[in-house]
Amino acid sequence: MNRSTSTQSPATPPQTARSILTRSATSTTAPRRVLVAGASGGIGQAFCQQLVVRYPNIELIRLARTPAHLEPMAHSVLELAFDLLDEASLQQAVQSLKSEQLPDWVFIATGWLHDEQQQPEKTFRSLDPAHLLRAYQLNAVGPALLVKALLSQIPKAHTLNIGVLSARVGSISDNRLGGWHSYRTSKAALNMLIKNFALELARQKRPVIVTGLQPGTTATALSAPFQRNVRPEHLHTPAYSAAQLINVMAQLRQEDSGELFDFLGERFAP
Ligand SMILES: NC(=O)c1ccc[n+]([C@@H]2O[C@H](COP(=O)([O-])OP(=O)(O)OC[C@H]3O[C@@H](n4cnc5c(N)ncnc54)[C@H](OP(=O)(O)O)[C@@H]3O)[C@@H](O)[C@H]2O)c1
Repeated sequence: MNRSTSTQSPATPPQTARSILTRSATSTTAPRRVLVAGASGGIGQAFCQQLVVRYPNIELIRLARTPAHLEPMAHSVLELAFDLLDEASLQQAVQSLKSEQLPDWVFIATGWLHDEQQQPEKTFRSLDPAHLLRAYQLNAVGPALLVKALLSQIPKAHTLNIGVLSARVGSISDNRLGGWHSYRTSKAALNMLIKNFALELARQKRPVIVTGLQPGTTATALSAPFQRNVRPEHLHTPAYSAAQLINVMAQLRQEDSGELFDFLGERFAP
């Protein structure tokens, strides 16, 4: 897995006028305490590393399936175990946070595309209920239950900015290739859950922003088998994707809640 600390991507596409990164630099919000779920992953780990570079006084809470395997970090105040497939573990992790440990940013960097048993489907003939349900559990149900646990733990007036890693291939309107049925549909479901959270929280006037974030194709274990056909200038280092997503999260406003943004800060349709 590429865990480069360079923030250089082979090619950095120009920022367009539609990007929220063109918003005034003074409108950015610096986080004080950030919870990263999936801190062991390619993008999750880079996100933690980039955060401490950008915000040297940050307090980090890292959630991982096996915290003992996390690389040591001077800024990490807490490391907690969780498993997306076990709701009790999500509740336990979140409920163990004391009131002074509650985060103001949450970055959910978990996700699943393939393993030794299951590869993305090229045709409907490969559809398999176990594969579909696994993707749905890991990419949609798990993150939603984590958000549920967090929202139940924070006071109603607590300000929170939640970024959940989604994927552009989960966009129904942008789907021109088909295939990858389990992954695509699970990310589409995640996008709907994000929208639903945002609508309900807005109705309750809670100062919580929930967005779906697209890192772009990033050199991690998740994308490793599929990088051969990606042009080098389109394959990001984890550090680049993470740094860009921090820029995006810092520019988010309440009215952006429920939306999807890519690593350049551009909205995309679900
Ligand atoms: N890489 C890309 O090109 C790309 C493109 C678009 C979107 N994304 C999205 O970005 C996110 C992160 O991807 P990545 O590339 O960083 O992948 P990665 O390196 O494979 O990381 C996946 C993370 O998910 C965690 N995870 C998996 N199953 C879990 C479970 N049951 N409970 C708790 N954590 C679990 C992994 O934990 P362990 O270390 O314990 O396995 C790891 O921290 C995913 O949602 C992916 O869909 C990635």
